[in-house]
This record gives sequence, C-alpha cells and structure tokens, in this order.
Amino acid sequence: MTKYLVLLGPPGVGKGTQAKILSERTGLAHISSGDLFRENLKNQTELGKLAQSYMSRGELVPDDVTIAMIRERLSRPDCKTGAILDGFPRTPAQADALEAMLKEFNGCVDAVPFITAAEDVLVERLSGRWTCRANGHIFNEKTNPPKTPGICDFDGSELYQRDDDKAETVKRRIRVYLEQTSPLVDYYRRHGKLLEIDGMQTIEQVSQTLASALKM
Ligand code: AP5
Ligand code: MG
Repeated sequence: MTKYLVLLGPPGVGKGTQAKILSERTGLAHISSGDLFRENLKNQTELGKLAQSYMSRGELVPDDVTIAMIRERLSRPDCKTGAILDGFPRTPAQADALEAMLKEFNGCVDAVPFITAAEDVLVERLSGRWTCRANGHIFNEKTNPPKTPGICDFDGSELYQRDDDKAETVKRRIRVYLEQTSPLVDYYRRHGKLLEIDGMQTIEQVSQTLASALKM
C-alpha cells in the first residue's frame, strides 16, 4: 500500500516543519520542491540557476521544469511506499500532472492537509526563520530556537536566513500563493481529500492535530 500526502498552505505556515516530523514518524519520504531547487542551486546546476531567477523574485518556477523534477524524485526507491509532498503541487497544472504520474506508480493523492494561519503570523514566522545548510532543518528565533544560536541542533551545521524571506519578497510570495495556489484548496475539497488544520497552534499541537486527522 502506498500513501501520498500533499501538504498545502501559504509560505511560512509550517509545511516543512510538519513534513519533517511526519516523515520521521511514518518513514514516508519528505519531498520539498523548494528544498530540491535550493539543493540544485547549491550544486550550481542549470536547473538551480533557472529556479533562482524566479525564487529570488518570489515567483513560481515554470510548471514544466518543476513537474519533471518531482517526477524524477518520486521515481527513486525511497518513495516506494509513498511520500509527503511539501510545496508541490502549487498550480492546477501541477495538480493534474501529479495525479497522472501517481497513477503510473499505482497510487493517488490520499489526503491533503491544508494548514492555515493569519498573514501577519506568516510574515513574523518567516522573518525569524533560520535554516540549516546541510539538511534543511528548520528553526525560529522566537518560536523554535536552536540550542546554540546559528548552529543546527541536529547536525551542527551553520544556520542561515533564506534570501526570499526578506519582507518584500515574502509579501510577493503570499500574493502569488493567493493567486496561483489557493485554487487547489477547492480542487482538493471537491475531491474529498482536504483536511483543514489550524496552523496557529504551537508546532507540537499542529503535529498532534495532523496525526489525528490523518489517523497515522
Ligand atoms: P518553498 O521553499 O516551498 O517555500 P514556501 O512554500 O513559500 O514555504 P516556506 O518553506 O517558506 O514555509 P513552510 O510552510 O515550509 O514553513 P516552515 O515549516 O519553514 O518555495 C520557495 C520557492 O521555490 C517558491 O517561492 C518558488 O519560487 C519555488 N517553488 C517551490 N515549489 C514550487 C512549485 N511547486 N512550483 C513552482 N515554484 C516552486 O516554518 C516557517 C517558520 O515558522 C520557521 O521558522 C518555523 O520554525 C516556524 N514555525 C513553523 N510552525 C510553527 C508553529 N506552529 N508555531 C510557531 N512557529 C512555527
Ligand atoms: Mg518550506
């Protein structure tokens, strides 16, 4: 039995944070499209350079390259039992492509936890986010601080602030989310897949709510 979950929600709501917790608990692979683009950029691949030109403006990377990247990632052995998708799909075309590719893997989107929070909270969370260079572990200087400032608790690597977490880019990302990604909320609701999760709670409370909504 495969299980594919899609974490949906605006920038900064906690998709990456919750995907990591859920992945550790369930053993399902965590696939973050944003992390894959950032990894490509770190390795200076053509895809990374292309993606960067969109990411730095808070715009979406074109569907064709994004879909191809996710298809390749989903075909790897660690996704045999399924995956937690974080940040993909983000457009109706990506959602259609996902449905088609999961059919090839004899699966489908099983559930779509949709995490929400007020816009001022999103902006505040992103302004205090620190991410680890080595493995993308996520911290927040106010709500989830590392034991030692600037150092990842889990692997000791350096923590950095993402370029696209600057206030004006965050505003653009939220607008792009509302225009291009929020139609997916209705799409998955119509398909009976949507699970609404209150992202205004603490990280621990959100992960408990998520676990009981998913029954896993
Ligand atoms: P991506 O990396 O996916 O960014 P995003 O969707 O904007 O989401 P974030 O990663 O900013 O937030 P998150 O929800 O993961 O929150 P987190 O857990 O870190 O995408 C970046 C860019 O890549 C896009 O703009 C686009 O250019 C491109 N891209 C990616 N996917 C694409 C696609 N499919 N198509 C086209 N382009 C694509 O938490 C945020 C902070 O809050 C952290 O500090 C955390 O510690 C804290 N926090 C989390 N939960 C809580 C809580 N409950 N209470 C208090 N603090 C909390
Ligand atoms: Mg994220």
